[in-house]
This record gives sequence, C-alpha cells and structure tokens, in this order.
Amino acid sequence: MADSRETMVKAFVTGWPVKHSRSPLIHGHWLRQHGINGDYRAEPVAADDFADFIAGLKSGASPYVGGNVTIPHKEMACLLADKVDSIAGELGAANTLWLEDGVLHATNTDAHGFAANLDERHPGWDQAQKAVVLGAGGASRAVIYALRDRGVDEIHVVNRTPTRAEELADRFGTSVHAHPMAALAEVTQGAGLFVNTTSLGMDGEEAPAMDFSAMAPGALVTDIVYVPLKTPILAQAQSQGLATVDGLGMLLHQAVPGFEKWFGVRPVVDETLRALVIADM
Ligand code: ATR
Repeated sequence: MADSRETMVKAFVTGWPVKHSRSPLIHGHWLRQHGINGDYRAEPVAADDFADFIAGLKSGASPYVGGNVTIPHKEMACLLADKVDSIAGELGAANTLWLEDGVLHATNTDAHGFAANLDERHPGWDQAQKAVVLGAGGASRAVIYALRDRGVDEIHVVNRTPTRAEELADRFGTSVHAHPMAALAEVTQGAGLFVNTTSLGMDGEEAPAMDFSAMAPGALVTDIVYVPLKTPILAQAQSQGLATVDGLGMLLHQAVPGFEKWFGVRPVVDETLRALVIADM
C-alpha cells in the first residue's frame, strides 16, 4: 500500500472489452469521497496480451499497485499471479490483484459481494436451510461458495446443461445437488432462498414464467443481474408476494476489498454510490 499523500496510487480494471465496466465510477466515487490522491482506470487488454500485462505489473514497469480483472482474464489471472488465496484457488478465477513487496496476490471478491449485499438488504438470509441456484457458470460458483461458507445446508443447482451443474456438485461436495431445468418447480419446494445467476432477463431478454408458490414462508429471491434493477425474475417473485433483493449491491460490495488493498481505506457502500451507478445505467 502506497502513501496517498506523496505519490498518486494507481489501480486498473482490465478486460476485453472493458469500456462498459462500472468499476471506474465506483472507485472514482470512493477516491473523491476520501480525498485520496489516486487513480482508477479501465485498461483494455486483449487475451493475447494479458500475460505481458501481468509481467509488466510484476516487474514494476507498469504504474499500478493492482487492479480488477474481468472477462476474459479471470481464469488466467489466477494462473499468472504469484500468490492465489484459497477462495480464488477454489473458484479457479480471480477478480482482484494487488502487489505486496513485489509479489502479485490474487483473490476473488464475488462471494463476499454476494453475501455482503444480502447481509445489508435482507439480514438473516443465511438462515435458509435450502437454497436453489439457477445457473452453473462462473457467477454460480461464487454464489455456491458463499452459501456453503455461510452454512446453508442444502444447495440445489439447476442448469440448462445438466452436466455443468453436476460438475459443480462434484466440485463443491455433499451439500450441493445438481438438477436439470425440468426439475425447477419441484426443486423450489420448501426453499428459503432462490438465486438467479444466469443472464435470463438481462437487458430486457425474456425470462421463463416462474412459480415461487411452493417456496418456504418468508423466502427470498435474488438475482445477480442488475440491468434492469428489477429483472423479470424479481418482478415475478414480487408479484407472488416474495421478498426480493436486486443484484446491484453485489457489484458494489465486491469492489470494497480491492479498494482497501490499493488505497488503504475500507470504503462503504452507501445510497449515494448506489444512486450514482443507477443514474449511469
Ligand atoms: P457467468 O460467468 O456470468 O456465470 P457463464 O459461465 O457463461 O457466465 O454461465 C452462464 C449461465 O447462464 C450458465 O448456467 C448458462 O446455462 P448453460 O450452462 O446451459 O449454458 C445460463 N444461461 C445462459 N443463457 C440461458 C438461457 N437462455 N436459458 C437458460 N440458461 C441460460
């Protein structure tokens, strides 16, 4: 961590493409809020150039103390970092990098972002004994990690391609069960939590009709998609009388640990930040 009073501390978000990333808006807000002499910017890096980008970071040739990595570099970041923590190792993907004494560290803050968002907006969510996770991609892994970490007993992964759900069940152990899409209605019976991790309903796409009526009393439905804020899945859950939490907070909370590593201050996710990002959507 550099001294922000003396030199400008610089961090990045890299991906390909990366121009739609909202991370510069989030970190820029926190830099201004804390009066830090810092800079956080998008660095578009194509897949073929990513190893060189990381080599520059490790050698000190680049100006950065660390940064975020997004699609398509998350897996490669994990392979190229010097020190990968247990969560990034288990997920096989990193989204946050930082240099410490010339050593490049990697972690994954998505599971933290998921849990912190629900802690803030629906405390007690982790009392659910049975959870249903729709989808079996990278985002699903982070959600399953968080659910298992918080002690949810039964985690049911439902996916269009059943083999991908089965791979996750094998990887995460006995509390995780795999199901095909056709089993969705049956699997939601008695569940206290439903999480959509697929792109269904994103950017105005159609989502299937969902029936949440067999879920447990007081059940919560959440979506990691945040554009639109009220996704078709959340809209259906609300109209069926269920509690819902949107996915924007996951994006905001996953940014917190990185900011703290690079700039030395733990920022808060507040309504001002939320409004700023919503105004940009
Ligand atoms: P991410 O890393 O964001 O999770 P991903 O790895 O591409 O992205 O995973 C996308 C998830 O959304 C997968 O579970 C995918 O289902 P498949 O494994 O069958 O591909 C799911 N998904 C995407 N579009 C879908 C659709 N139209 N219907 C059902 N599931 C869909």
